[in-house]
Order: sequence, then C-alpha cells, then structure tokens
Amino acid sequence: MVVDKREALSRVAQMVVDCRRCPLYKTANKPVPGQGNSEAQVFFIGEAPGFNEDQQGIPFCGRAGKLLEEFLGLAGLTRAEVFIANMLRHRPPDNRDPSEAEIAACRPFLDRQIEVVEPKIIVTLGRFSLAKFLPDSLISQVHGQPRFVDFAGKEYIVFPMYHPAASLRNGKIKALEEKDFIKLGQFLAKLNQAQEETGSGSLRQVSDQDKTEKQMKLI
Ligand code: URA
Repeated sequence: MVVDKREALSRVAQMVVDCRRCPLYKTANKPVPGQGNSEAQVFFIGEAPGFNEDQQGIPFCGRAGKLLEEFLGLAGLTRAEVFIANMLRHRPPDNRDPSEAEIAACRPFLDRQIEVVEPKIIVTLGRFSLAKFLPDSLISQVHGQPRFVDFAGKEYIVFPMYHPAASLRNGKIKALEEKDFIKLGQFLAKLNQAQEETGSGSLRQVSDQDKTEKQMKLI
C-alpha cells in the first residue's frame, strides 16, 4: 500500500513538472510539486512558491519554511511526518497573489495529492487555501478552530492557520499561531487516542463520542 501511495504521488509530481496548464511555467525557475510523507496524518497547504522555493523546487524552504518547522515542533510534529503542498506549483512573478485562473489550473494536483495521502487533518496556511475549503470565512475569525469539511466525497477535518509569512511580519500573529500549533498537536493526540479507544475509523463518530472535541467546535 505504501509503495502504491508513493508511486501515485510521484506521478503527480511528474505531471507538475510537465505542466503547461497556465503560463506561470514560463517565468518560473523550478516547479514545486509538494513534498512529504505519503502516510501523513496532517497535510499543510500554503499559497505559492516564493524565491527560495522557485530556486530549489522544495516547498517552504525559505524563511517562512524555517518558521513553519519551528511551529511544527510546537505541535510535536516533524517535517518528515507531514505533507506540505501549495495552491500553486509555479512561482507567480514578483510573488504576486495567485489568480483565480491559476488556482483553478493547479487544482487537480492538490486534489489528487489529498486523495492519495488521505490525511486526518488538512491545515490551511493563509487565506488562499482557507478559501478552498471555507470560502466565506475570515482567517482572523476561524484560525485555530478545526471543523469538518466534505471534500471530493470524503470527510476531512480542516484546521485553519495564519500563513507563517504573516507571523514573520507581525509578532501578535506569531503569538496566535504558536498557540494554534500547540492546539493542533493536542487535537491530533486526542483524535488518535479517541480513534484507538473507540476502534472507530470514522472521524465524526469519534467526535460525537468525545466531549473535548465538541468543545473545540469539531461539529
Ligand atoms: N509561502 C508559501 O505559501 N509556500 C511556500 O512554499 C513558501 C512560502
């Protein structure tokens, strides 16, 4: 099974390398297909490659990535355990915001990676990935609050977070994001414990049986 997942993710990566679905490949240096553990319980989605990612072909390998790794530590996670992807796989010129057309063109890669990895929790980093799952939500109002989302015929838990680049710019946001990552670690531990105790594969069944998760608005 593990090999199948890895193979499926390699196929997606190759499709990203070959992608001509929007013009961004013309100005980008390297494609950034995404990286991580095929068995990840937590799947992170950022915005788009920046300067360093475009140079190296690796997501979150610059300053925001270093901070993301520190945040992961607060959740008791390592980079090797999780999967990290972006809404866009080629860098937009001058780090401008992704356009709707670019997001739509890139969508199949992200959707397939989520389908293959089947994470327990999808962490959205910033407003663009938040809008994919919770289009009417404001990051300032929903950060750190996990909720169920039906996506591609399956149920996922989406855990909205600020983008680490916002934390680099603003100390108050950084303090909030640190708390949110600590909460993510606690939440994941409770989820795994409850699933073990109930022997349930269904996340919603677990949350129905676990008061703590209800307090965390996981309904
Ligand atoms: N910011 C992102 O959104 N993604 C990266 O990979 C790097 C910085």
